[in-house]
Formats: sequence, C-alpha cells, structure tokens
Amino acid sequence: MPHPARHVFVCNQQRPAGHPRGSCQAQGSGPVLQAFWAEQQKRNAYDKVAITYSGCLGPCDGGVNVVVYPEAVLYQRVTAADVLEIFDQHLDKGEVVERLKAPTAVW
Ligand code: FES
Repeated sequence: MPHPARHVFVCNQQRPAGHPRGSCQAQGSGPVLQAFWAEQQKRNAYDKVAITYSGCLGPCDGGVNVVVYPEAVLYQRVTAADVLEIFDQHLDKGEVVERLKAPTAVW
C-alpha cells in the first residue's frame, strides 16, 4: 500500500443521550464520513488520501471535528457540504480551509 500524502481523521465518537459532552456522532459525523469516502472513491484518491474514523479528539462542543495530517489542522463544525471544499483546497492543493479551522485556543 502506498504511503498517503494526507490522512484525515473524522471523529465518530458516540455517547449516551443526554451526556454532558455530547458527541460528534450526534452532531452528524456519519454523513461527514460518508461524504469523505464518496469523494475519495469518486477521485480514486486511495493512494493520496487516507480517511479514518476516530474516537473523541477532545473539543466535542465544536463537532463534527476533523483533523488532517501531516499539517495537524483541526476543522470544526464540519458538515457533509464542506467535504468537497476540504478535498479541493486542502487535500489536493495543501491550502488550509481557514473558515473551518479551529481557533488556536482550541487546537
Ligand atoms: S466527541 Fe468528537 S471531539 Fe469529542
């Protein structure tokens, strides 16, 4: 398997209803993951980008949280509608999507 240039982790943490921290899954991580995988398939980008779901990344109240390595950029409040922009701008060109980037105080 080739070494992918970038690795995307989508928080898919689930917690019981009413949990004080909430969860990215309750905030829609499922559709975000599906959108990333669909875009990866559409572009046949398996050698360039890895997409993996993860447990809690920390700042749950900003979910859905997505982190991209090697830049270690955390995107917050990501929806399925944002995935195309992340692919076009960050995963293809290496340019951070500033409007979704977590503030420095968070990450
Ligand atoms: S549940 Fe996703 S960051 Fe904590």
